[in-house]
Amino acid sequence: MLLIIDFGSQVTQLIARRVRELNVYCEIISWENDLLKNIEQLKPVALILSGGPESTSSDNSPTIPREIFDLKIPILGICYGHQLLCKLMGGKVQKQSKREFGRTLITKTIEQKSPLLNGLFKKGFEKVWMSHGDAVSQLPKNFVSLAKSDSSDFAIVGDFKNKFFGVQFHPEVFHTKNGSLLFKNFLKIANIKPNWTASKITEDIIYKLKNKIGEEKVLCALSGGVDSSVTALLLNKAIGSNLTCIFVDNGLLRKNEPAQITKLFKKHYKIKLISINAKNLFLRRLKGISEPEKKRKIIGKTFIEVFESQSEKLKGIKYLAQGTLYPDVIESISIHGKSSHTIKSHHNVGGLPKNMNLKLVEPLRALFKDEVRKIGVNLGLDKTFIQRHPFPGPGLAIRCPGVISNKRLKLLREVDNIFVSQLIKYKLYNKIWQALAIILPVKSVGVMGDARTHEYACILRAVNSTDGMTADFFYFSKAFLSETSNKIINEIEGVNRVLFDITSKPPGTIEWE
Ligand code: XMP
Repeated sequence: MLLIIDFGSQVTQLIARRVRELNVYCEIISWENDLLKNIEQLKPVALILSGGPESTSSDNSPTIPREIFDLKIPILGICYGHQLLCKLMGGKVQKQSKREFGRTLITKTIEQKSPLLNGLFKKGFEKVWMSHGDAVSQLPKNFVSLAKSDSSDFAIVGDFKNKFFGVQFHPEVFHTKNGSLLFKNFLKIANIKPNWTASKITEDIIYKLKNKIGEEKVLCALSGGVDSSVTALLLNKAIGSNLTCIFVDNGLLRKNEPAQITKLFKKHYKIKLISINAKNLFLRRLKGISEPEKKRKIIGKTFIEVFESQSEKLKGIKYLAQGTLYPDVIESISIHGKSSHTIKSHHNVGGLPKNMNLKLVEPLRALFKDEVRKIGVNLGLDKTFIQRHPFPGPGLAIRCPGVISNKRLKLLREVDNIFVSQLIKYKLYNKIWQALAIILPVKSVGVMGDARTHEYACILRAVNSTDGMTADFFYFSKAFLSETSNKIINEIEGVNRVLFDITSKPPGTIEWE
């Protein structure tokens, strides 16, 4: 495995994504942890030092123990990590008179071939993404410059003997055109075999699940999304009949969803599945509640209550399995080791009660969504489930701003159904990361035939994203928008206005609440 030491960069997750895309397993660890102990335990074969918001010259700036350099593990430093590497190895870092932000051209400064630059600089330059105020001003002994920019002579540097490299730019971001190639070259230099493939991951998880669970019984919370579906299939392979899945209809699901999910898992996969109709319980608890965080907390708590009461009935259940992913877990790692600002309580991480009777098992905790989808393919999960857009745990409750009513939920289901059918008809569903409809608690005046209408307004939202952390709205054609809007208003009695949400994330979030 490769270990990424995080100094608090906004894009550390992207380093992990790039490395995993190259089929190499990696994990992120904060610089504040006991690094020497963790390195001894995890035995990484290479290290990447991330960027970060601090300056290496500030008091108490993030650092790493010098002993790490004696371990003879290849290192790639990025931005802050590059400056820290150079400084700790005896070089100098200074504040730059001209800061470098955004797209920058760098050129090669070394004549001979270097394995780190294989396939790069084909046109004599590389387009990279910079974001720094400090820069390396003097190289440590044994380091040479491999590339420079207008404002820095040390855009790429290396100590070939020790296999220590540093880059001032961010190879992990999309805007650095050949960033992946640079990572690939580094992994090759570090002699890492790209063996983190879907079938290897699947085998590995099943093996670990078998070891962890043994003969115990597991209840798996199944929502029908790709994460929980893959979790269920992995457990099915690992522990067979000791697995029971539980699907809770909380009254906040989309049209026909409960039937589709029960059919697939019960009939197709022959997995033991209990379907619970808890619509009244959830809707009763949400009555009169309009504050989004309160809604989320109530839903999270009620889910766990239902799971626990079912597990008591089933007797002997020790574990609750859920499809938590890596981004949910590392979102809570910040540079100061405290959890980051709570924007929303994602119910399967932040919303769990402190003293649960069931132990958690989360086989996807180290994975990104694209990896989960690949495992799903590997396990033969139905295509329609693999390609499903993400759907939040709190369901339609957070797409129904204000106090939830049965009437508005019903209208929302119909709007969502027409929107999705239109996306499929226009072959757009798989080009969009997530599409959703929202029903406002607001009525507007309209005219249909010759009569006045006073009905609800709904919103369509479609975004593209890689991991849900940032997103931009999808640009529909006028033909699509006008046909969809007409269909919604003509076919759904109770909605007379359709709006389209053009907010990106940030500043918006994907869901409305
Ligand atoms: P936001 O609205 O925070 O959403 O931009 C980012 C992604 O996360 C999904 N989401 C959730 N998923 N439980 C989940 O399982 C939750 O509580 C939750 N809240 C938001 C959202 O649909 C989007 O894909």
